[in-house]
Amino acid sequence: MDVSEAILARKSVRAFLDKPVARATIDQVLEVARYAPSGTNTQPWHVVVLSAEPMRQLQQKMIAQFEAHGPGQADYRYYPREWRSPYIERRRACGLQLYQTLGIKKEDKARQREQWVANYRAFGAPVMLLFFMERDLEAGSYMDYGMFLQSVMLAAQGAGLATCPQASVADFPTVVRDFLGYEASMLLLCGIALGYEDTAAPVNSYRTPREPLDNFVEYI
Ligand SMILES: Cc1cc2nc3c(=O)[nH]c(=O)nc-3n(C[C@H](O)[C@H](O)[C@H](O)COP(=O)(O)O)c2cc1C
Repeated sequence: MDVSEAILARKSVRAFLDKPVARATIDQVLEVARYAPSGTNTQPWHVVVLSAEPMRQLQQKMIAQFEAHGPGQADYRYYPREWRSPYIERRRACGLQLYQTLGIKKEDKARQREQWVANYRAFGAPVMLLFFMERDLEAGSYMDYGMFLQSVMLAAQGAGLATCPQASVADFPTVVRDFLGYEASMLLLCGIALGYEDTAAPVNSYRTPREPLDNFVEYI
């Protein structure tokens, strides 16, 4: 698979086969991803690989926290405080596409909640990756991290795996840090659900649209 093929084939997968991922395959993905570029080669990433019982324990803790206290608060602001055009329309379309594919109606808050909670189970993936960064690093390191995350997803694609990046699992950073015994200085950025795609699952059947070049490229 060449690079363009991998980029075009990658999509967010939200249903996985009940099939474990070999440790050697996870290592192979991370071995490749560590060659992602970073400003002055700072390599700000720190990855936790969770699977089996420890993964399920942490997921239960996140779900319990969500059930008891509702949505948590991540260590950093991912999204704008005030949503505005054109981002709000894209965001709405993204949610609508997911719900339409699953046949979830706008007023069916219970099923929407269920679908949201599926995030905390990493959509049934056998592996959950968690991505941390030292809190005192600056905006450049967030850029570096984005390149690393995409490298992880592309390397996974090349290895026949599927992924879903998940900002949602960063909603309960204290729960995650307490579970791992991590200091507050370790900022939780996001997760990636990792496994083999369930190609029969309707939720995996759609592709999200993208803006044409004319809308965001200027040649001078
Ligand atoms: C950093 C990041 C965090 C994301 N968090 C979530 C998430 O918590 N739950 C989810 O279902 N999708 C999440 N997504 C997936 C986006 O919705 C998805 O990338 C976007 O709609 C484009 O679709 P595609 O990935 O299939 O190309 C996230 C994507 C990124 C890049």
